[in-house]
Amino acid sequence: MGTQHIISIGDFDRDGIDRLLDHAGQIDKKKFDPDALAGKILAVLFFEPSTRTRMSFESAIARLGGTSISVGSVDACSMAKGETLADTIRVVSGYADAIVIRHPKEGAARLAAEFSTVPVINAGDGAGQHPSQTLLDLYTIRQSMPIDGIDIALVGDLRYGRTAHSLASALSLYNARLHTVSPNGLELPQTLAAKLRDRGMEIIEHDDIREVIPDVDVLYVTRIQRERFPDSASYFNVSSSNRITPELLEGARKHLIVLHPLPRVDEIDPRVDNSPHAKYFEQSRNGVPMRMAMLLQVLQ
Ligand code: CP
Repeated sequence: MGTQHIISIGDFDRDGIDRLLDHAGQIDKKKFDPDALAGKILAVLFFEPSTRTRMSFESAIARLGGTSISVGSVDACSMAKGETLADTIRVVSGYADAIVIRHPKEGAARLAAEFSTVPVINAGDGAGQHPSQTLLDLYTIRQSMPIDGIDIALVGDLRYGRTAHSLASALSLYNARLHTVSPNGLELPQTLAAKLRDRGMEIIEHDDIREVIPDVDVLYVTRIQRERFPDSASYFNVSSSNRITPELLEGARKHLIVLHPLPRVDEIDPRVDNSPHAKYFEQSRNGVPMRMAMLLQVLQ
């Protein structure tokens, strides 16, 4: 078998996803060997800011007995001197047993996989994919309800939001119905929507978030990504659309869960945090068992 990379959620079929979710569930119950990855080294190459993904991968390898190495900041590595990503990956794959990479350019993780001799895990490539986030999102949904057949609203920046792209793709394997609510110009890319519809997914576009609240099981809220806008004016035109408040949730189903990959800026009113609907901090905590399961899959 060749090197096992995790670049896109599309690399998995439904059985593969379910197996990983089951494994994360076992790990969550402390059923794992704390020395399973003793002696293994994870290289953490982040060319964009991160709190959750980076730290939960570092926590995951440490909990399994391995260690992580990194170059610190982007400015501190030799790419700042003009070294290519391909050469960087060739070199780093000689220092580690797996590489986790985040990069601002879509396709960078796939390129890294072409030049790496060790498994590469995509920790987010521009507006492309974020497969480890999707797995922990699915894991969090499954803690509250069966994933099959859910009605889910994706809210916010669906054009640039890689977490929304990955999650929508995965949910097409689970017979989910997708509701989208996004500011003008930030809709789900047409190519992705067409692909999902070809797979039989029903996608309903809404102009007003109030329309979807009574009809969904999951509200997946995403940040408007300022860093991907060409200028500040176009960002500020849309940044406060569709804010989630306790008043908005009054008409929600009792079991509705609110998820957000975080960081949030002002998409969710902090008063929602204490509501039984709010699951976004549990969601970020789930990153550790989920990423432990992923590391065991590629490193064992
Ligand atoms: N959800 C997520 O990717 O968060 P970070 O950017 O903090 O890693």
